[in-house]
Amino acid sequence: MSSQAWSAVDAYIADRLIGADAHLDSALSANAAAGLPAIDVSPPQGKLLHLLARSIGAKRILEVGVLGGYSTIWLARALPDGGRLVTLELEQKHADVAAANLADAGLSDRVEIRVGPALDTLPKLAAEAAGPFDLAFIDADKSNNANYFAWALTLSRPGSLIIVDNVVRDGSVLAGTDANAAGARALFDTIATEPRVTATAIQTVGSKGWDGFAIALVNG
Ligand SMILES: C[S@@+](CC[C@H](N)C(=O)[O-])C[C@H]1O[C@@H](n2cnc3c(N)ncnc32)[C@H](O)[C@@H]1O
Repeated sequence: MSSQAWSAVDAYIADRLIGADAHLDSALSANAAAGLPAIDVSPPQGKLLHLLARSIGAKRILEVGVLGGYSTIWLARALPDGGRLVTLELEQKHADVAAANLADAGLSDRVEIRVGPALDTLPKLAAEAAGPFDLAFIDADKSNNANYFAWALTLSRPGSLIIVDNVVRDGSVLAGTDANAAGARALFDTIATEPRVTATAIQTVGSKGWDGFAIALVNG
């Protein structure tokens, strides 16, 4: 099957099970208008994140990598009243676009965007005792995935879910020589030897190509 067919099936899934959504659609338009790269999760993937957060009754969510806030909107919509999402972003411009998109979606009251390198912000969150987070979604610079996973684990509790995007990368996880492939392998090495989690990874195809999510449950 071609990537064109994967995209067509994604469009079918979105049409049948997701539908038009003015806030999500306008977030993608605003991202494009601001020149942000279209590297957000796809609509079916965003809804999967939403369903996972809802299914565990997540009240506190951590995200690493906001871009224009597309995945953030999906996740924040899963929060109950009083719930909170903290999302970390390196680029001020991305954070500004995301803040506007989140305001448009009526979610500013429950989302905090922290700007700076996530490896600087994560220790601060730990020092502030900002956790535990019920769900962490890691989707930033892939070379740091193992480090982000370690921090997400520090900021978790038994029963928390940690989800990492882009861990397959067109199969380059196996033998790719670039930093992103190495980051994916480092993540697998970390998870494989971490007794505090039970984990798997799922390959995905769709409008974003061939990739995958790692999903880890923090053990009791
Ligand atoms: C793949 S995009 C996030 C997409 C977003 N989660 C979505 O699906 O809508 C990755 C984001 O991580 C940010 N990023 C890259 N390096 C970072 C770092 N060291 N700390 C925090 N954010 C970083 C990038 O600027 C970019 O906005």
